Amino acid sequence: MYSTNFFNLLHDTLKFNSIDHIMSISDNIARLFSTPVFKSPEKYKFNKSELDFIDKQRENVIINQSGNLFSKNRYVLESPELKNLKEFCNNNLFMYFYDGFNIKKDIEISITQSWINFNQKNTSHHRHKHINSIISSVLFIKGEMCPITFHNSQRNLFGNLMSYEDFAAPNENNAAQFNFNNENGKLFLFPSTLLYSVSKNKSDV
Ligand SMILES: [Fe+2]
Repeated sequence: MYSTNFFNLLHDTLKFNSIDHIMSISDNIARLFSTPVFKSPEKYKFNKSELDFIDKQRENVIINQSGNLFSKNRYVLESPELKNLKEFCNNNLFMYFYDGFNIKKDIEISITQSWINFNQKNTSHHRHKHINSIISSVLFIKGEMCPITFHNSQRNLFGNLMSYEDFAAPNENNAAQFNFNNENGKLFLFPSTLLYSVSKNKSDV
């Protein structure tokens, strides 16, 4: 039979990370256990040969669930044409991984797969997440008005006693989704457990 001590022991053994309670001074609400989403401080500026290489990937694609396309090449960042882009991604990845989470420096992280998505006019990217992965990433290359949406799938705010329809208006505490406008050249990094999607592209790209 399990005793209370057993659970205390289990709790001690698991060694949860904890931080001192930090209270917002603006609205008296502390938002606990956030999901850190990183946006690169700088934008990557693509040159013509990089854009040509990316466009060329359109010749060899697979049709995705929402009608958009993704390149069969799942290792584009290994191509010499995108050497500088890979360096930009790595620099931001290390900033997010080691500085953002205080990961020990002897734990190595590296980019594995990378591919190009083409969201032609009126196509979107379905809600999904990546398994067998620590960190996922999105970098907008071309186009506009195509925001990325992150979805709260881990918890229902008050269990099954209230639904999101009961809130008069969304705010930071009750939102089930967060949208970020795309900015070409900005890199997003986030835990791979986070569900995300990309809205319908309304521009001609
Ligand atoms: Fe994805």
